[in-house]
Amino acid sequence: MKLKKRIPLIDQHNQHGFWGGKFGGSFIPETLKKPVEDLTNEFKKLRKDKKFLKKRDHYFKNYIGAPTSFVKLDNLTNQLGGAQIWAKVVSEANGGAHKIYNATVHALICKAMGKKYIVGDTGAGYAGKMLSMAAKKFGLKCKIFMGAKDIKRQKPNCDAMRKNGAEIVPVYSGSQTLVDAVSECMRYWVSNCDNTHMCVGSTVGPNIFVKICGWSTAQISRELKVQLKSEFKKIPNKIKLINCVGGGSSAYGFWSEFIDYDKKQIELIGVEAGGPKKSKLHAAPLSRKTKIGILHGAASYVCQNKEGQINETESISAGLDYPGVSPMHCFLKDTKRARYTYATDEEALKAHQMVTKFENLNPSLEPSHAFAEAIKIAPKLSKDTIIIVNSCGDAKKDRDILRERLGKK
Ligand SMILES: Cc1ncc(COP(=O)(O)O)c(C=O)c1O
Repeated sequence: MKLKKRIPLIDQHNQHGFWGGKFGGSFIPETLKKPVEDLTNEFKKLRKDKKFLKKRDHYFKNYIGAPTSFVKLDNLTNQLGGAQIWAKVVSEANGGAHKIYNATVHALICKAMGKKYIVGDTGAGYAGKMLSMAAKKFGLKCKIFMGAKDIKRQKPNCDAMRKNGAEIVPVYSGSQTLVDAVSECMRYWVSNCDNTHMCVGSTVGPNIFVKICGWSTAQISRELKVQLKSEFKKIPNKIKLINCVGGGSSAYGFWSEFIDYDKKQIELIGVEAGGPKKSKLHAAPLSRKTKIGILHGAASYVCQNKEGQINETESISAGLDYPGVSPMHCFLKDTKRARYTYATDEEALKAHQMVTKFENLNPSLEPSHAFAEAIKIAPKLSKDTIIIVNSCGDAKKDRDILRERLGKK
């Protein structure tokens, strides 16, 4: 019997680009209609093009370094008792985080479309660093929009962007974080779309950008599926895949192959930024009470006030410090396929301390939120439960914050 082909979640939207009929879409100005349509057609063509796929796989393997390791964290497991804790060490990817998958694919698309300029947004600086790397690799001129607050708190990644020849455009409007960087980058693209390609750094933005980013990071779960089968001879019965969620690109990439499984077999747990324990501010639109709003060209749950104005967010982690989230995660929340929760700044810091104390792993502040949830639930679970955390970024970029908060060298 021929099995029905699985439709990936990136393609499960309606003709207007909405997941579940209400999340996503493409709320764009008239001037962007044509460039967005061109990009949509190009991507449709490229993802079926065997030569392009061969090229993508070549760079995933020989440039990014895929597959990244899948390892058991024995010491952490023994410390906590209960469930086994494993990590998918995506921070081993070239540049130190999952953002390299999306950046590489966008650079390849930019080349295929004959454009020489590429622009992108960044929060933690990884999306920017990776885009600058990919631009350098493929001979493109690169501009990165970054909030002034994030430039200060993520210096190592800014140094890397400049070293790669990218121009960093500081954004001083609003909260001077990722949300303002994305707005400014989109504004720039509106005026320069004729010769410039735009990379959105996560699974957010108008429909096509959600799709391209999800298509790129899905590599992570393809690798994990092979690794699980090789380690356990089959997909085990009690798995929990825990991932931090900012815009949602690493979580989508980590889960993509497993969304069709029964949630009793594979539970998907997304961890947002709860912000400082004592503050009312957070960046957790899925796990705290929010409403649907329009942000950056798409409908999603958004942190907003009663009048629908975007709320200020706060998080120790620049990568999670964003008031919106991917429409695909909104859909997974509403359909109850995934469970979303949050970790506070303090819990993420504590988790970072614990993981680095017991393991040779140095998760950045973003995946430290995911580890916080793993540390919370592991002791209550049976020994045959397998918790897998996506350790999607390296903490080198957090050097200054960790020194200030934990006195780390
Ligand atoms: C290491 C790392 N993890 C997670 C994130 C959050 O983004 P996303 O939810 O798109 O993976 C970022 C964003 O900059 C990041 O740098």
